Amino acid sequence: MSARDEQGEQMSDQQLHDELITLLLAGHETTATAISWAFYWLHKQPETLEKLRHELDNLGHSPEPMEISKLPYLNAVCNEALRISPGVLLTSPREVREPVQLMGYQLQPGTRVYGCIYLTHYREDLYPNPNQFRPERFLEKQYSLYEFFPFGGGARRCIGEALAMFEMKLVLATVLKNYQLVLADHQTVIPKRRGVVIAPANGVKMHLHRRR
Ligand code: HEM
Repeated sequence: MSARDEQGEQMSDQQLHDELITLLLAGHETTATAISWAFYWLHKQPETLEKLRHELDNLGHSPEPMEISKLPYLNAVCNEALRISPGVLLTSPREVREPVQLMGYQLQPGTRVYGCIYLTHYREDLYPNPNQFRPERFLEKQYSLYEFFPFGGGARRCIGEALAMFEMKLVLATVLKNYQLVLADHQTVIPKRRGVVIAPANGVKMHLHRRR
């Protein structure tokens, strides 16, 4: 509220309102949903959870946040959760400015083009057994920006990517280090559109116990 631009102008109430809505929808809802999906997939697959726990248990008692953010298996788990359950299915639209040929399609000015994150993340040639949650694929292969793009790409890619990844890792590591979680029911969670994101239809209900 106290920020001033180069001309000494402050933001209007409308601009402040828009900033807050952006943080709430683009920033909070997306990251919170990604964390819910990660908890869900990890607890559907105990062997994956065990591998992650092993990595986390090798950290000291109160690890530095930067140390947590560099853990390779935790990074792979976050990537795989964002691959298999991308909260945002499509990139923002790009508008064609001049006639262009794209993969055999002739596109005219004014046409809107979207990148489909979901379909790319389920391509069998890139991700064998795409329905399987397997963080190891991110340790075995370096995916390109055109193969894995949960945060979109190019000049308009998500500005919150680094914050979101950092937040996901710190929340997962802190909760899993201190608590034992169990899925309250073992039914497959259905993805459902909720505002701007695709979220677990009824949340991910879990029981929580403190770890000794
Ligand atoms: C897991 C969490 C998140 C996911 C999956 C996500 C995903 C995306 C995607 C797919 C786009 C469209 C990019 C494109 O069209 O190329 C986008 C744009 C954007 N995101 Fe995120 N996002 C996340 C977290 C955040 C956070 C934490 C913030 C802010 C603190 C944020 C702010 C924005 C903004 C402002 C844009 C619009 C950028 C522009 O049009 O120039 N997002 N996000």
